Amino acid sequence: MLPKMANYLVILIIVLISLFSLVSSSPKYNHPYSKSPYNRRTKNHHTHSNFPTPKATRISTNYTPTWPSLDARPLPKWYDSAKIGIFLHWGVFSVPSFGSEWFWFYLNNQDKSYTSFMSANYPPRYTYQDFGRDFTAEFWDPDKWADLFQKAGAKYVVLTSKHHEGFTLWPSKYSFSWNAMDVGPRRDLVGDLANAVRNKTDIKFGLYHSWLEFFNPMYLKDKANGFKTNTFVKNKAFPEFKELVEAYKPELIWSDGDWESPPEYWKAQEFLAWLYNTSPVKDTVVVNDRWGKGTSCTHGGFFSCQDHYNPGHLVPYKWENAMTIDSGSWGYRRNAPLSDYRSSQELITELVSTVSCGGNFLINVGPTREGTISPIFEERLLSIGTWLGINGVAIYDSVPWERAQNDSIAKGVWYTTKPEVGKLFAILLEDHWPSGTDQIVLGSVHPSLLNISSVEILGLEPGKKLKWVPDGDMIIVTLPVVPPGTVNKWGWTMVINHV
Ligand SMILES: *[C@@H]1O[C@H](CO)[C@@H](O)[C@H](O)[C@H]1NC(C)=O
Ligand SMILES: *[C@@H]1O[C@H](CO)[C@@H](O)[C@H](O)[C@H]1NC(C)=O
Ligand SMILES: *[C@@H]1O[C@H](CO)[C@@H](O)[C@H](O)[C@H]1NC(C)=O
Repeated sequence: MLPKMANYLVILIIVLISLFSLVSSSPKYNHPYSKSPYNRRTKNHHTHSNFPTPKATRISTNYTPTWPSLDARPLPKWYDSAKIGIFLHWGVFSVPSFGSEWFWFYLNNQDKSYTSFMSANYPPRYTYQDFGRDFTAEFWDPDKWADLFQKAGAKYVVLTSKHHEGFTLWPSKYSFSWNAMDVGPRRDLVGDLANAVRNKTDIKFGLYHSWLEFFNPMYLKDKANGFKTNTFVKNKAFPEFKELVEAYKPELIWSDGDWESPPEYWKAQEFLAWLYNTSPVKDTVVVNDRWGKGTSCTHGGFFSCQDHYNPGHLVPYKWENAMTIDSGSWGYRRNAPLSDYRSSQELITELVSTVSCGGNFLINVGPTREGTISPIFEERLLSIGTWLGINGVAIYDSVPWERAQNDSIAKGVWYTTKPEVGKLFAILLEDHWPSGTDQIVLGSVHPSLLNISSVEILGLEPGKKLKWVPDGDMIIVTLPVVPPGTVNKWGWTMVINHV
């Protein structure tokens, strides 16, 4: 009797132990592909030859306000899968909509084009603050924006809750009389967009936030003191940032305006520890890398490095390419000529090369002071959405191919892959479609290393197999004829099915 009981006890203990280890290693935020490098980064992030395997597999809630601890947090998995986001630069700068979103700064610096613009168009003594009342947003329909973002194929959106001008798009209790509820729209723009996006779509809601405020007297005083005092951070920036997170629960925080002073001045590590340990978004929030002088491309969550960052090769940490449609400005410019707008081909080229190299693509539009998105931006977003509607299978949830990012021979061919379903995607940009031949040589696809079962192309006859032959270390694919009126454009996805 007793020995039998002991046997049962042993079995019971073993069952309990295995259950416990199963639960405690629950890969809640693990990357779907075990080989992905993107859960953590290595010190030598500029060497991209070796492919580190992530160690941490779950998000703890015990981060200390130090970089080694904060940097060890794995990136919540939704972000790498999402790939495509929309960035919105909207604020009082959308009223003059001239020059750039740094209008106030340049005007204050007596930049000639800005001072002439003011003297030619506004009464003497007209101030930047006077623009606030014309930020009217009378045509703003956040539901329509949400619809457009969804049609664009975006999986997240990032709104400037407060740019360097300090004007908050939500009724911040720390920004008396310089916010969208007291002046201008008389609406909670952050809250209304958050509701529209969350009610109507599965798009994640993110917020941009600038630490510095160009001309906030508290900030200027701290700056004059060599950032040895922190009145501005204590009384304004820090509590306000927390208020923003608690009120709107953004799942992405795009931090900016950090570069004049070290992270210790901003209490950035303290903020991140709070964000990761106790904030309402601790399990899902994703942040970038602008948390004080010296942090860009080094600390935080994903790397945004510099604006329009696109390294062109695989890097072993998760990064984002924040790219504008208007090549001259993030905020809306009424006088931008068509030639300043990136074409759909340029944008899709940028999107494809970004995703192939492990990045996310954050595409920026500048809404107008009336609350509209101009048709040229709309058209670009819809083009991207049309393209993703056909080719999105090669983008969302994909991972970079370890062997090559772009082909070694064929120009304008970029790779992504989904190893778990045996698919390699070779995206041929339309402006590189071969001329004078119907064949394309893929120099990076070694038929001896990849047991190919078939090759298809998306956006033409569904399911139709393309002719292909091995040629030594390469394969030669025969491309089909593209009939006039084919909806797909800008980039063609060859699906290389393999065993
Ligand atoms: C959208 O969300 C807000 C806030 O959660 C809610 O008050 C509103 O009723 C929702 N609207 C719809 C159409 O679901
Ligand atoms: C692959 O991309 C890199 C970086 O953009 C470029 O320098 C190189 O020329 C490309 N290779 C081919 C064959 O086009
Ligand atoms: C390739 O896949 C086929 C079908 O599964 C299999 O019969 C064949 O042995 C594989 N060849 C190699 C070289 O792995």
